[in-house]
Amino acid sequence: MKIIGFIGSYRKGGNTDTAVRTVLEGAMNLGADVEAVYLKDYEIADCVGCEACKTTFECVIRDDMQKIYAKIQEADGIIIGSPTYFYNVTGIIKNMIDRLYCYEVFDEDDRSVWMGIHEATGIKYATVVAVCEQKDPEDMGYTTVTMTKSLQALGYRVVDELKIYNVYNKTDLLLDTDQLSELEEAGKKLVKTIRLKEKIQNIVNIKNEQIN
Ligand SMILES: Cc1cc2nc3c(=O)[nH]c(=O)nc-3n(C[C@H](O)[C@H](O)[C@H](O)COP(=O)(O)O)c2cc1C
Repeated sequence: MKIIGFIGSYRKGGNTDTAVRTVLEGAMNLGADVEAVYLKDYEIADCVGCEACKTTFECVIRDDMQKIYAKIQEADGIIIGSPTYFYNVTGIIKNMIDRLYCYEVFDEDDRSVWMGIHEATGIKYATVVAVCEQKDPEDMGYTTVTMTKSLQALGYRVVDELKIYNVYNKTDLLLDTDQLSELEEAGKKLVKTIRLKEKIQNIVNIKNEQIN
C-alpha cells in the first residue's frame, strides 16, 4: 500500500512538514510504503481555465505537475497538508488542487452532472491537515474546507480532517505531544481504512466466484 504526503508549506522542517510527516510515520508503523512530497520543489503553473482537459482528462500544461499526476495515480491514499495563509491554503496547494481539475468530468450536455475520476475508477482515500498559529478555529478559516471539498469532488473519501492550532515557530509542533499523537493515529486510521476496503473487496470477490 502506497501513501503519499503532499506538503504545502514553503518552510521545510516547519509545522506542516512535521504534521504531514507524523501522519506518514503512523501509516509506516502499520506497514505502508510512504513518501513525502515537498510541493515547493515542484514548478506548478496556474490552471489557465482553457477547459482542454474536459475530453482528454489530461492537462495540456507541461510542467512538474505531470510528476504529481503520476504520484496521485500511484497512491492508494494521500495526505495533503497546508499552513493557514490568510484563512485559507497556501498558493502551492491551491495551484495543485486547481490543476487536478482535469480529473473532474462533466456530462457533455448537462454540466450539472459531474463526477470525480476516482469516483468512476474506484474511490480513493485522503487525510487533510491544516496548521495555524492561532487557537480560535475562526482563524483557520477555510483551510480544511478548501482541501476537503476539492478532494471530495475528485472522488476521494476524506477519512480525517486534522486541525492543528497554536503553532507559530518552526519547531512548535515538535513539542506538542498531544497534537503529534493525534496526527500519528490518523496515519494508522488511513491505513486501516484502505485495508478494510481490500478485505471487503476480497470477501465480495470470493462470494461472486462461488455464485458463478
Ligand atoms: C502569509 C501568512 C499568512 C498567515 N495567515 C494566518 C491566518 O490567517 N491564521 C493563522 O492562525 N495563522 C496564520 N499564519 C501563521 C501560520 O499558519 C503558522 O505560523 C504556521 O505554523 C506556519 O506553518 P509552517 O511552519 O508549516 O510554515 C500565516 C502565516 C503567513 C506567513
